[in-house]
Amino acid sequence: MLETKSKTKVNPQLTTFNDRSYWITTFGCQMNKADSERMAGILENLGYMRANDEFEADLVLYNTCTIRDSAEHKVYSYLGKQAKRKQKLPRLKLIISGCLAQQEGESLLRRVPELDLVMGPQHVNDLQNLLEKVELGNQVVATEEKYISEDITAARRESSICGWVNIIYGCNERCSYCVVPSVRGKEQSRYPESIKEEIKSLAEKNYKEITLLGQNIDAYGRDLPGINKEGRKENTLTDLLYYIHDVDNIRRIRFATSHPRYFSKRLIKACFELEKVCEHFHIPFQSGNNLILKSMARGYTVEKYKTIIKNIRDLMPNASITADAIVAFPGETEAQFKDTLSLINDIGFDLVNTAAYSPRPNTPAALWDNQIPESTKKRRLKEINEVVEENSKRRNLRYMNRIESILVEGVNPKNSSQLMGRTRSNRLTFVQISKESSTRGFVGKEIDVQIKEIRSFSLSGEIYNHC
Ligand code: SAH
Ligand code: SF4
Ligand code: F3S
Repeated sequence: MLETKSKTKVNPQLTTFNDRSYWITTFGCQMNKADSERMAGILENLGYMRANDEFEADLVLYNTCTIRDSAEHKVYSYLGKQAKRKQKLPRLKLIISGCLAQQEGESLLRRVPELDLVMGPQHVNDLQNLLEKVELGNQVVATEEKYISEDITAARRESSICGWVNIIYGCNERCSYCVVPSVRGKEQSRYPESIKEEIKSLAEKNYKEITLLGQNIDAYGRDLPGINKEGRKENTLTDLLYYIHDVDNIRRIRFATSHPRYFSKRLIKACFELEKVCEHFHIPFQSGNNLILKSMARGYTVEKYKTIIKNIRDLMPNASITADAIVAFPGETEAQFKDTLSLINDIGFDLVNTAAYSPRPNTPAALWDNQIPESTKKRRLKEINEVVEENSKRRNLRYMNRIESILVEGVNPKNSSQLMGRTRSNRLTFVQISKESSTRGFVGKEIDVQIKEIRSFSLSGEIYNHC
């Protein structure tokens, strides 16, 4: 989920040779991807069209991530190339948005004087106004804390079947390693009514799946009014799931990212009861050792984490469980690292995103003097990845010959006689269709598929004939 760089795919029909073509490169998590889609929506509303190539565009926007050091470095090398281009082509508009932009703010203008606009994630909806200022010849920095207005412009979404829907921005946790609260600001929940409106409008456009997004999605509603007769907060993620479930034509609902500290039994029950909510849970555990969890300020124990997974599996034995983990956190001993490996083996995860700890600005752990040497980080990362892969392979075996419902998202770009979609558990699946059938009629439909082939990160199968 991290540090991916999703280049805007090229649709030749959208290419333009006027002076209003744009290019967006997105680094980082789904939050950033969702923000990029909204910014693309704003740009297209202003008459910009997608460029064929990053080095042909008249407006280049890098939507950045700063979760780890490596993410940061990548961006600077991209910016350097565009800065050179701008020296020869002054009309080029060069924009940096996202988490690195927020972290570095004005200092980015000193580092890359060719930049026209530096904007933090809270200013995404304001891109049009900011561009107007740029067009008047200003260099603009927009990083002040801001109330995030309701999305005014329709996003220019990459998929026509699956849509992301932000429900809460920011994060109020203080995990000692994490830069997100300082770059994404305080938690701001959207009102349930406007979330439902957005989902309805997606349904009208034939979207079939939605993923509700938040850095700590379990915090949804903490800042909203609403207490019921029993004195319980009414605007929780669980309430929201019940509230949006009846939107016609939406077939699947997902949400990410869950925090073990707040993941409730009531939520698990709702996921079980609500047919459209998919049996896939992304619940980062970060470490399998209680002392490390404490110094990470995560607010739960390994035992609590295991209980959550047990409660999920009691109701949904086939649920897919994925997570994130950090190795070589400051002070992590070899035995504590092994505890993380044991937790992975005990739970049997479908997938774990792993990373070696990277010290970040404005975070407590970065200042501690018990940092782990690079060589140990590398070795632990390699070891954990081997364990994760073994687990994934083992977990994947359960799909063999099973009949899975696949929501078809499109055609396999590498093989036009195959459909491409996902299981409810979020496994990418390719489906061979007969020569006579056209792939087009399948997109957006859920079909039953018998799984015939298993790979580490994807499955293949054939349409299952019930007769
Ligand atoms: N809100 C989510 C995760 C957000 S960041 C949560 O609470 O779990 C995504 C992942 O990046 C984290 O789960 C963590 O595994 C990783 N990460 C965050 N900060 C990191 C750091 N300083 N070094 C290495 N990995 C980090
Ligand atoms: Fe970062 Fe912790 Fe917030 Fe997740 S919950 S975004 S890890 S501070
Ligand atoms: Fe990166 Fe910001 Fe997401 S730091 S992981 S893009 S919230």
